[in-house]
Amino acid sequence: MTTFPFLKSYEELQSELLRLGLELPIEDDISVLAKSLRFGCTQYALKFPNLNTQSQQHEAVVQGQSPPNTTVTTNWTLPNRFVVQPMEGFDSGQNGEPTELGFRRYERFASGGAGLIWFEATAVSFDARSNSQQFWLNEKSAEQFAQLEEKTRLTAKKRFGHDIISVIQLTHSGRYCKPVRGVRKPVIAQHSGVLDAAHQIPADYPLITDDELDRLQDAYVNAAKLAAKCGFDGVDVKSCHGYLLDELLGAFTREGKYGGSFENRTRFLRETLGRIRDEVTSIFITSRLSVYDAVKYPWGFGVDKEDYKKCDLTESKKLVGMLREIGVPLLDITIGNPYFNPHFNRPYAKPIRGATAYNENPLIGVVRFANIVKEIQQSQQDLPMIGAGTAWLRHLVPKVAAGIVKNGWASLFGQGRNSFAYPNAPNDILSQNEMNPKQVCLACSGCTDLMRAESPTGCVLRDRDYYRLS
Ligand SMILES: Cc1cc2nc3c(=O)[nH]c(=O)nc-3n(C[C@H](O)[C@H](O)[C@H](O)COP(=O)(O)O)c2cc1C
Repeated sequence: MTTFPFLKSYEELQSELLRLGLELPIEDDISVLAKSLRFGCTQYALKFPNLNTQSQQHEAVVQGQSPPNTTVTTNWTLPNRFVVQPMEGFDSGQNGEPTELGFRRYERFASGGAGLIWFEATAVSFDARSNSQQFWLNEKSAEQFAQLEEKTRLTAKKRFGHDIISVIQLTHSGRYCKPVRGVRKPVIAQHSGVLDAAHQIPADYPLITDDELDRLQDAYVNAAKLAAKCGFDGVDVKSCHGYLLDELLGAFTREGKYGGSFENRTRFLRETLGRIRDEVTSIFITSRLSVYDAVKYPWGFGVDKEDYKKCDLTESKKLVGMLREIGVPLLDITIGNPYFNPHFNRPYAKPIRGATAYNENPLIGVVRFANIVKEIQQSQQDLPMIGAGTAWLRHLVPKVAAGIVKNGWASLFGQGRNSFAYPNAPNDILSQNEMNPKQVCLACSGCTDLMRAESPTGCVLRDRDYYRLS
């Protein structure tokens, strides 16, 4: 397998981009990253007084009707353009509550200076978990989540004097459910000619029914109510990375009201967000949305029907427009499936243990991700969006981050693996214009290896007193 050496300087990055015929904006002046951002939504824009049910409300929008002018606009302000992307730690207690390691993780994130902290994947039910120690928000764990949110907020306030925005990511792990250690319990929305074989799902394995999906909407609404009580500003109905809601977006072969047509495949996400908007008015709604699964049609969303290695963002853009109409004030855009094509989702220097190693230059992956986010962001320029996938650039992140924001490729800059490896990066970038090469993530996949081994997850290189691979 070819190895792709790290790039040492911005000059090397420029010439490698030129050699490969790729484009990535690089901006010397990084001051744009320190700028605050006001974002907001018109929360009650979908109130059609003559339509009684949620689905009638949504159908009216799908049919292109404009809502009447009975709107309430709410705004929030981010102190800067940095986002801690959701990063699972797999270290919850027996009721799914955050424990000492979780409190440590969020204290480190808050002390790093990012204005938006997107709390990690948090299951809406016991069975929805991908790991027996995944966060799970329920009546018994809510008190500790409230403490975690408050402590995170206070830490940032004390160190920087700023108010963070906190979002909690609600998830159902779908075909990757493993609620009990070592025991896979997949929940699938459709059979996949690609993913079933990769994850040993037999041809007669039952699909989640429409009734079960209806009830699952209730679980999301209940968890969102708890999230609001815990003090979170926003709630993310996670629809990405091959988990259940993302699988629904690409459920072309599913029959019934949640599959087949675009309206049906997007129904669960639209209705759930709409219900949370109406029933939990103190919290804003958002989604981490996979706009391109890179899984062959008819089993993946946002793909070119002839060649799944190319994206076709027509439906993704349409969905983004609809989410905006529903009242989503910002979106976290992502691509790929970390279990199936991790080089799309998190370009790396070293592959995940035991996974297929793709012989692709990681810079191609970084640029692909950034360009897709750009295309989506530019389709809705005043809806703030966030991208990811840049950790492989190591200490060359700051000027690329500034380039991305300055040139409107995204409004905010999100970091995943660097938040584990180098949580103080936003602060170093803002105060010193650079990242310390000795602290950056080396994209070694060690954190994902821990995850796959069902161990608490963190950086095995920069935080090795806490996280070690056996
Ligand atoms: C160990 C690990 C845990 C992750 N946990 C989550 C998660 O809880 N929710 C989510 O949407 N993405 C999750 N991701 C994806 C990251 O948020 C991010 O999109 C990805 O690592 C690529 O961005 P980066 O290059 O900045 O790391 C995780 C990634 C890793 C490596």
